[in-house]
Formats: sequence, C-alpha cells, structure tokens
Amino acid sequence: MKHKLTARKDVTHFNDDIEKNALKRTLGKWSLMALGIGAIIGAGLFVRTASAAANNAGPSVTIGFIIAGIGCALAGLCYAEFASMIPIAGSAYTYSYATMGEFVAWIIGWDLVLEYALGAATVSIAWSEYLNKLLEYFGLHIPYAWSHSPFEVDVLTGAHGIMNIPALFIIFILTMLLIRGMQESSFVNGLIVITKVTIVLLVIILGWSYINPMNHTPYIPEAQKYIDSQHVVHNYGGWLGIFGAAGVVFFAFIGFDAVSTAAQEAKNPQKDMPIGILGSLAICTVLYILFSYVLTGLATVNDFRTQGKEASVVFAIQHYMPGYEWLAKSVTVAILAGFSSVILVMLMGQSRVFFSMSNDGLVPKLFSHIHPKFHTPYKSNILFLGFVGIFAAFIPGDVVGDMTSIGTLFAFILVCAGVWVLRVREPNLPRKFKTPLVPLVPILGIAVCLLMIYGLGWPNWLRLGVWMLIGLVVYFMYGIKHSKLRK
Ligand code: ALA
Repeated sequence: MKHKLTARKDVTHFNDDIEKNALKRTLGKWSLMALGIGAIIGAGLFVRTASAAANNAGPSVTIGFIIAGIGCALAGLCYAEFASMIPIAGSAYTYSYATMGEFVAWIIGWDLVLEYALGAATVSIAWSEYLNKLLEYFGLHIPYAWSHSPFEVDVLTGAHGIMNIPALFIIFILTMLLIRGMQESSFVNGLIVITKVTIVLLVIILGWSYINPMNHTPYIPEAQKYIDSQHVVHNYGGWLGIFGAAGVVFFAFIGFDAVSTAAQEAKNPQKDMPIGILGSLAICTVLYILFSYVLTGLATVNDFRTQGKEASVVFAIQHYMPGYEWLAKSVTVAILAGFSSVILVMLMGQSRVFFSMSNDGLVPKLFSHIHPKFHTPYKSNILFLGFVGIFAAFIPGDVVGDMTSIGTLFAFILVCAGVWVLRVREPNLPRKFKTPLVPLVPILGIAVCLLMIYGLGWPNWLRLGVWMLIGLVVYFMYGIKHSKLRK
C-alpha cells in the first residue's frame, strides 16, 4: 500500500471509470449552457446585490460585479481546459486528483461541499423570502418566526426567527425531483432559464427610466464602518467596501463551474463543455452589471438596510416604479421558479462530486449507489437533503452565502493552480480547449480570487478554516484508509 499524499490518478485512465459507472449521456451544448444559466442567475442577483449595496458598497456594487466577473472569467478559462480534457463527473475534485494528488483532491472535494450544499441552502433561504412576497398577494403570510433562522431579528418589529420552514420545504421537493432523473429535470430547467432571463431583461429595460441619479451619488461612498441589525460590523464604502461587495456578489456567478460536474452526462464533452461554461458566464456578466445599476438607481441604500432588506427587487419595483405592479408579481413568480433551478443544479453538483469521491473510496460506498430505475445516486441525494436542510432551516442567508462564496473562491484558486501544474507536468496530453496565456491567466485568476477572499473578512476566513480542519480529520480517519488508489 502506498502512503503518499501526492498519489495522482492517471488522466488517461479516467475512461475506464466512465465505462464502469455509466450515468446516462443526455446533455448537448444548449442543454449545458442552459444548465449553466440555470445555475448562475439566482439569489446572488436577486438577494445578495441589495445586501452588498447595504453592507458594503452602495451603488458601487456594480464595480464589485465587474471584479467578480473578471475573476470568474479567468477561473472559467481554467475550468474549461480541465473540463475538455477530463470529461468525467466530479468537477474541480476530479481535476485536482489528476494534477495535484489525492490530498489536494480531498481538500477540494471537501471544500466543494461549501459551494454546492451551502449554496443550495443559501438560495433556499432566498426562496423563502420571495415566497412570503407571493403569499402577500393572496393576503397570506408565514410568521417571521417560521420563515427565519433563530439568529435573525426583524429590523421593523423586533420578532425573532425560530426555523425557516419554506427553505426546508423547497430543498425537500427538489431533492425528490432530482432523484427522479436528469432528463426531466433539465427540461424543466430549460423553461425556467427562459423565464429568468426575460425577467432580468424586463427589469433592466423598464426600470432604466426610473433610476434616480441621487441614488448613484456619490457612486463610491466614503469609507466608514457600518454596523447592521445583527450587530455585525462591515467595511462600508471605499475600495475595501468594493472588494467586500465583490466577495458577496461573487455568489451570483457561482454555478458556471457546475456545468463541469455534468461532464459525464454530456453527449460530446470535449467540444461542448467549454462552450457551456464560458457561454453561460459571458451572458450573465453583462446582465448583472446592467441589473445592479438599475436596482441601486431605483431604491436607496437605507431601503436595502430596512424594509427593502428582503425580496429587494420586488420592493424596489413596488415602491419606485408606479404602475408596474404586474412586473412585481411576475418577478416574484419567475424568481421562485428561477431559484428552484439554481437549487436543483447545486444539489446535483453536490451529489456528483460525492459520487466521484465515493468511486475513489474517499467517502463511503453508499454515495455512489445508483438507483436501479432512475439511474441517480439517490442515497447521496437523501443524505444531503438532511445536511442542506439543517443549514437552510437554522442559519441566516448572509452567513451561508458568504461561506459559499469563500469556499468556491478557494476551489477556484486550486483549479487555476491545477491548470498550470498540469501544463508543466503533462505538456503533451491532448487538450480540446487550451487556456490562453498560461501561466498569466491562472496567476491573475488566483490574485483576483484572493482579493475577494480578503474582502470577505476574518469571520469568513475562520469559518473556512474550521470546515477545512474538520475535513482533514475525516480524511485521516477514513479517506486515507479506504482510498482505492492506494490499494
Ligand atoms: N449563482 C447562483 C445564485 O446566484 C448560486 O443563486
């Protein structure tokens, strides 16, 4: 038995694994791009934009979007090379197993739980906010206590949260859909993507003439400390505020890499994966910059700190775009559907990563049990329903959202480094898509991601550290002993 933490999987042998554990190959390039956009546009845009404006940057949140978009494009170029080269399920985890060895692969696989599982929890919490908006139209209302975590207090009434039941509910429903199978879910996803993009365009076009220039002045607020209603201190304004905002809204871009987790289900992975990843990223970046410009032009920072804190987009339309009640209603419905597709892709990404890790023996076998009829890793889906559900029900959205951002940024850094390492180690391997200007692009990718991690502040560095520490314990207690590569 080998005891080297740097044991690497041979990239050329991945095809054997694919044949042994075949998932259905049903996705073409448009489905992949739709999968990307389905995963990308969600709570980041419709919830975290307002939160970043309120806590970090005011209108200069748009600059935060530009920085986050640049970081993602750089990392996306690296992801695309990997995805075109190692077309099997597992995302950054699989790539790093081939390039940097088992230990780094474990770190990244463990870290991806933050991205996918906590990402799903974050969006489910946002879903709960907009569900309450929808119910308002019917004169109904879920009490604050049953739609918020125990760590939250209503700014307006002083009510305390107990448990976020709607967030838990949506995670449950979507897990069931996921267990039913990919083909059906990706069809539903296609419909939702069209609705979601239409709504974003409508808000940009119709909202543009309601922008109040006062709300954009000064565009970059003066640097100061802002203490929010949960007594958390934020660096508001100035460049530090912009970097913080970039880290927060970075969440809005998460998901384009989830396309790479579906490589094993793609019909033609070599050609279609890069198109799926970079295409969906490009479309979303343009939409985000315009959308955040309009949103921060409609409502004030103070709105986003108080009554407009939740379901911010609908709030802004209702209060600042007279005559557009129909838009507010359609946005609410579209957002609820749109968030569902994001959660679906995140839950799928999570189960696929653990599927690969389980095939490699690093996590227990049950994570790769395939349902005899539906061909999906149903046991894994059910276990993650429990894990994600706990965060959805009991932790505030801002906290899980920032953890998702920092976890993903960390994974991106490892992917950027991985492309570079593999170019040096295996320069002759065939690559259908080559990242341009290596090592410049990976280095810049790492630098921009580090800047955003810096902006997210020490409480998040600490949370990432604790999570990774737990991962190390699990690896040395279980993974290292069961690893197939070592046997
Ligand atoms: N990018 C996804 C969202 O914003 C995770 O909801």
